[in-house]
Amino acid sequence: MRRPYTSKKPKDMKYTISRMSGYLGNQRTKLILVVIAVAISVSGNLAGTYMIRPVVNGLLENGSRLQLMKGVLLTAVIYAVGVSATFAYTQLMARVSQRFVFDIRHDLFSHLETLPLSFFDRWKHGDIMSLFTNDIDTILDAMNNSFSSVIKNSIQITGTMVLIAVLNWRLSLIVAAAYILMFAYIRYSGKRSKAYYNKQQKAIGELDGYVQEMVSGEKVVKVFTHERENIEGFVKRNEVLAAAGIGAQSYAASMIPAVVSISYINYAIVAFVGGLMVLRGWTDVGSLASYLVFVRQAAAPINQFTQQTNFLISALSGAERIFNVLDEKSEEDKGTVRLQRHDAGWDWIKADGSAVPLRGDVRFSDVVFGYTPDRKILDGISLYAKPGQMIALVGSTGAGKTTITGLVNRFYGISSGTILYDGIDIRDIRLSDLRHSFAYVLQDTHLFTGTIRENIRFGRLDASDEDVEKAASIANADSFIRRLPDGYDTLVTNDGANLSEGQRQLLSIARAAVADPPVLVLDEATSSVDTRTEDLIEKGMDKLMEGRTVFVIAHRLSTVRNADAILVLERGRIIERGDHEELMAMKGRYYSLYMGMFELE
Ligand SMILES: Nc1ncnc2c1ncn2[C@@H]1O[C@H](COP(=O)(O)OP(=O)(O)O)[C@@H](O)[C@H]1O
Ligand SMILES: [Mg+2]
Repeated sequence: MRRPYTSKKPKDMKYTISRMSGYLGNQRTKLILVVIAVAISVSGNLAGTYMIRPVVNGLLENGSRLQLMKGVLLTAVIYAVGVSATFAYTQLMARVSQRFVFDIRHDLFSHLETLPLSFFDRWKHGDIMSLFTNDIDTILDAMNNSFSSVIKNSIQITGTMVLIAVLNWRLSLIVAAAYILMFAYIRYSGKRSKAYYNKQQKAIGELDGYVQEMVSGEKVVKVFTHERENIEGFVKRNEVLAAAGIGAQSYAASMIPAVVSISYINYAIVAFVGGLMVLRGWTDVGSLASYLVFVRQAAAPINQFTQQTNFLISALSGAERIFNVLDEKSEEDKGTVRLQRHDAGWDWIKADGSAVPLRGDVRFSDVVFGYTPDRKILDGISLYAKPGQMIALVGSTGAGKTTITGLVNRFYGISSGTILYDGIDIRDIRLSDLRHSFAYVLQDTHLFTGTIRENIRFGRLDASDEDVEKAASIANADSFIRRLPDGYDTLVTNDGANLSEGQRQLLSIARAAVADPPVLVLDEATSSVDTRTEDLIEKGMDKLMEGRTVFVIAHRLSTVRNADAILVLERGRIIERGDHEELMAMKGRYYSLYMGMFELE
């Protein structure tokens, strides 16, 4: 099982970089311009410092005012060019990086929409959210600052080395020794802080996920008065995050004073030795002045270089997590058979152009399935739903009823056996067309932010207002909707928190009704409504079910009585089948379930 936040291997890092450069590919020109502008900006800075030499020497030698003016003016021009280049590359980089994360965000979300449900079973919602917030932010930050900074600083460091070697190679031996010392220290502390950085990212993800999970389950939290435990759980995660954050920051922060101290010592030694050299006439004052400014300026880029490299590395691990998701396999869809609606009904259009009318004939033979390879949930299921029949699945909780209904429309792929739909293997039908032919009223309803009308129209986007209202009437939702403050235009927020559970369910039935599909799946569709409403819905539903194949899972066996065929499921196997009378006469599992329920009611 692939989990986020796996430790990173260098091989993966190479892969991540190549994927990233793939994304940057279409912005290559802009990036090249950025590199050029960065180079100009740094060169401006270096050349400006170098200018100290001729200006000072000019003053000491013949002291002409005009020459001084010329020197200073030239320095000003050089700096001005440098600053303009800085302005140019920060502007450019802002565009490049925003475009880059725009593309990645877009691809990530579009890809998520193609992933199978099994992916969402495996991944915590908090971890998926964290890709869009945490990881994208880190990438954006690194692109905006670290990318140009690393280029800038590496040019600055090499440029400084070259120039000081030209100015005075003897003194440069001292500087080189100091640089080596600095890098060695930075490497050592960088290694340790990197471990903390990774811990920190992981801890942020944990904390985000925890908050999200607890906030969305706040009602349950309050029911069981778990607030204190929740706070304790949060405190634990918060402490882990703070500890990792302190570790990461203190290592990074200890780096700066250490490097600065080395650079001061270096500066003092160079100033002293350089002064002696000037006294002996081995070098001139101008060179020494310029030299010393170079040495003073050298500590900052070295610090920045390593810090920003660390940021780049954490951005790369963020990118890697995103690419891991982008590399998850989409739902397999090799189907070619398409669905076509006409006035009188629906047709399957095969690849050769021949048409088969959609009748709603569903046939399972020897279907074996497990959500994970190591645990079989359904074991050799065979069933046959004739067109227009109502098939009821009954059995205790966890028997596999919902699972069966999730296989017909390929929420999950089966391990062996076949499922035929009007004689066509469902794997040969284009996924979206296959799913278009079903409407589901799922066990757990989900409403989206929008109006009641829009939520019902989710079933079929081109439905007219009239269709929507008719569907609501069938589901018996019409009367309660009209009593809402804004009727059909009432805003549903936060997964329908402003509606009762029963009302939510009525809306999801209306959604199925507006879709008007040939096959209907009702999974405990009336479990949250009272018996009176259930009666009303059933009357409407009879109309809806007319001429359709219906799979119904109901917890009230009174609903199941009217089914054409009843399948009794136990631990992933069908143990009894028949209609109500036959099964009652058998006095088996169905009989005892029915009698049990009957006595309870
Ligand atoms: N998404 C899933 N991932 C893994 N196992 C699941 C998933 N959904 C259901 N199961 C398991 O499959 C079995 C059958 O579940 P289900 O079909 O929902 O039962 P029923 O609808 O009959 O109550 C249960 O043991 C359940 O734990
Ligand atoms: Mg179920």
